[in-house]
Amino acid sequence: MSTTDRSLAPDRTDWTTVRSDFPFLERRIDGQPVIYLDSANTSQKPRQVIDAMSTFMATGYAPINRSAYRMAGEATDAYENARRAVARFVNAPSADEIIFTKNATESINLVATAWGRQNLGEGDVVVLTHMEHHANIVPWHMLAAERGIELRWVPLTADGQLDLTDLDRLLDGAKMFSFTAMSNVLGTLPPVEHLCTAAHAAGAVAFVDACQFVPHNATDVQAWGADLVAFSSHKMCGPSGIGLLWGRMELLDSMPPFIGGGNMIDDVRLDGFTTAPVPAKYEAGTPPIVEAIGLGAAVEYLEAIGMDEVRRHEMELTRYALDTLVGRYGHDITIHGPTNLEVRGGVLSFAFRDIHPHDVSQVLDERNICVRAGHHCAKPLMRLLGANATARASFYLYNTTDDVDALADALDGATDIFGL
Ligand code: ALA
Repeated sequence: MSTTDRSLAPDRTDWTTVRSDFPFLERRIDGQPVIYLDSANTSQKPRQVIDAMSTFMATGYAPINRSAYRMAGEATDAYENARRAVARFVNAPSADEIIFTKNATESINLVATAWGRQNLGEGDVVVLTHMEHHANIVPWHMLAAERGIELRWVPLTADGQLDLTDLDRLLDGAKMFSFTAMSNVLGTLPPVEHLCTAAHAAGAVAFVDACQFVPHNATDVQAWGADLVAFSSHKMCGPSGIGLLWGRMELLDSMPPFIGGGNMIDDVRLDGFTTAPVPAKYEAGTPPIVEAIGLGAAVEYLEAIGMDEVRRHEMELTRYALDTLVGRYGHDITIHGPTNLEVRGGVLSFAFRDIHPHDVSQVLDERNICVRAGHHCAKPLMRLLGANATARASFYLYNTTDDVDALADALDGATDIFGL
């Protein structure tokens, strides 16, 4: 079925057909299928994305923005079409406000470095939350070491939501509030619009780390009222090597450049340089051209299915997984994060009996079940949970209840092996 056919029946998606778009999931190891439950880490790619990239590399590849011949013009158009697709996908007012970076981590570093160095000095306050992953912590620590800024932290409730009781006090005098739209460990979906409003009431910039959110939910950066939003391609069916930063034009315009070189300049002289307009100002050097083509195809693929459908499917899977795992293992399994699916995405971090998460993951791997085990690049949050590590199963549009059943069955195997 083509993606166009699918859009005719957006509320009746055939998820088996969706799954068949992903060649990776056709792999067999020792005759057994691969069960991929690590999409919070990185997603698999549909054939439509693979084909778009390979066709472009085979017959369309040329430099962008630099040469005047026809093929270079076509490549530039294709690259800019991808930017327009991304803008449409997150309802950005203008495609010029979409910056292509290397990944979401680089997008956050861009803001911390360019905006931070321009706007933050000794004693200035940046507010973060206890559920951030390292990409939204370390760049601010680096700035704190360089500038002497103060970091404040929004704490968590017992069920893994943000505790907003003292939010106004934490934001008082802050210049930046940078927070995740979805926890990669707990699956929690914080109230982004409310947090942006609170940031603005305090006079702070609202920066949303949406790399876990955008792949799984309809995103509207304008409805959020955000100032800046970071996300990545590789978690939303696109290739690795390209990330995104959306920002309000006046903010992007006012910030200094991040990386210097070709493409980001208007003029260069022996005594200095002037910058190109946004977005080129932040895209120094040859950008990820092929990756942009793949990302554009990924956006079209997800749009044809519909992000509300994706979210609905993942809510059903998450409900099924919570019911199945808790129903079967009761107190032997601890699943972190909220149980209310309205505020939770398809990420299940869990502790199983007294078996170390790495051992759980190894036993699951013997059945070709791919989960992540470890600290999930969120060590401060793991400390709060009182764990060095958890096993984590994360869902995407290609997963089915059969995958959940396979996970539940395989956990029995872990019990047998470790004799508990
Ligand atoms: N990619 C990291 C994860 O697995 C942050 O959640």
